[in-house]
Amino acid sequence: MENSLFLFFFFFLLPIECALGGGDDLFDHNYYQTFGGNHLTVLDQGKEVQLLIDPSSGAGFSSKSDFGSGYFRINMKIPDKNSTGIITSFYLMQIPVGKPVEGVEHYEFDIEFFGTHGNPHMISTNVFANDFGRREQQFHLWFDPTVDFHTYEILWNQHQIVWFVDGTPIRVWKNNTQLGVDFPTGQMHVEASIWNPSWLGNPDWNQGPFKAHYRGFAIDGCLYQSSKPEQCSSNSYYWNQNRYRELDSDQESKLQNARKNYMYDDYCNDPNRHGAECEINQ
Ligand SMILES: *[C@@H]1O[C@H](CO)[C@@H](O)[C@H](O)[C@H]1NC(C)=O
Ligand SMILES: *[C@@H]1O[C@H](CO)[C@@H](O)[C@H](O)[C@H]1NC(C)=O
Repeated sequence: MENSLFLFFFFFLLPIECALGGGDDLFDHNYYQTFGGNHLTVLDQGKEVQLLIDPSSGAGFSSKSDFGSGYFRINMKIPDKNSTGIITSFYLMQIPVGKPVEGVEHYEFDIEFFGTHGNPHMISTNVFANDFGRREQQFHLWFDPTVDFHTYEILWNQHQIVWFVDGTPIRVWKNNTQLGVDFPTGQMHVEASIWNPSWLGNPDWNQGPFKAHYRGFAIDGCLYQSSKPEQCSSNSYYWNQNRYRELDSDQESKLQNARKNYMYDDYCNDPNRHGAECEINQ
C-alpha cells in the first residue's frame, strides 16, 4: 500500500506540481532580463544564458513569477580570469524587482561569488531577514567554479531554508519564529546577476569582459497567490514533505564537514554581527 501510494505521488503528482512553476528548461519560459541590454545573450536555443560585464554595465535576470515555497536551482559557471571586484549571483528576493514597497520587509537569500583577489573559489551566502543583512557565511569551494557548470540550490519551505552546492548542504536557516528568529512569509522571486559594487574594489578591466554562464532554468516552485498563500505549505509539493523539513543524518554530516573544512568567515563568530539564530541554525 505504501509503495503504491509512493508511486502514485511520484508519477502523477510530481510532474504536475513541477509544472506550476514552469516545467521546462528554457530561459524565456521562466525568466526575463532585468538590466544590461545586450550584455545578456541567450545561447543554445534558450537553454543557456551568458551575462557579461564591462565598464559600461553588468546584466541580470529575474523569474517571471513569485513563489511561496520551492526548491530553486541553477547551473552556473562564473567568470574565469581575475574577476576581482565582480559579483556573480543567484538569489531569492522578497521585495519586487527594483521597487521597495512600503510595509514589505526585505528578505533575501543569497549565493554570491566575490571575485576578490583573483581567488574565485570563494562563495558567499547571506541572509537579509526583516530588512537586516550582514549575516555572511563564506566558504572556499572544493572545486574551481570557473571551469565547469555546478549546481547551486536554495530549498525554501515552512521549516527551513537550505543552501546546496552540488548536492552538499553548506548552510541552513531554520524557522524558529517562536524564538524570535525572522523567517520569510511572503512571496519571493528568483534573481541572478553580474555586477560590480564599489565596496568590493576596482576590477581590472584589462582582463575583461567578464562572462558568467547559466543553465537549467526549470523552477520547482509553488506559485504565490495572495488570496491563498497557505497553499504553498501544502504537502502535495515534494519540497514540503517530511524529508525536506530537516536535514537527514547524511546531510547533517556533510553540512558539518563543509562548515569545518571550507568555511572561513561566519558572522556568528563576530560579536557585532552575531544573532540569536546562531545558536539554532547549525
Ligand atoms: C514557522 O513555523 C511555525 C511553526 O513553528 C509555523 O506556524 C509558521 O507558519 C512558520 N512560518 C513560516 C513563515 O513559514
Ligand atoms: C587581481 O586583480 C586585482 C585588481 O587589479 C589585483 O589587485 C590583484 O592583485 C590581482 N590578483 C591576482 C592573483 O593576480
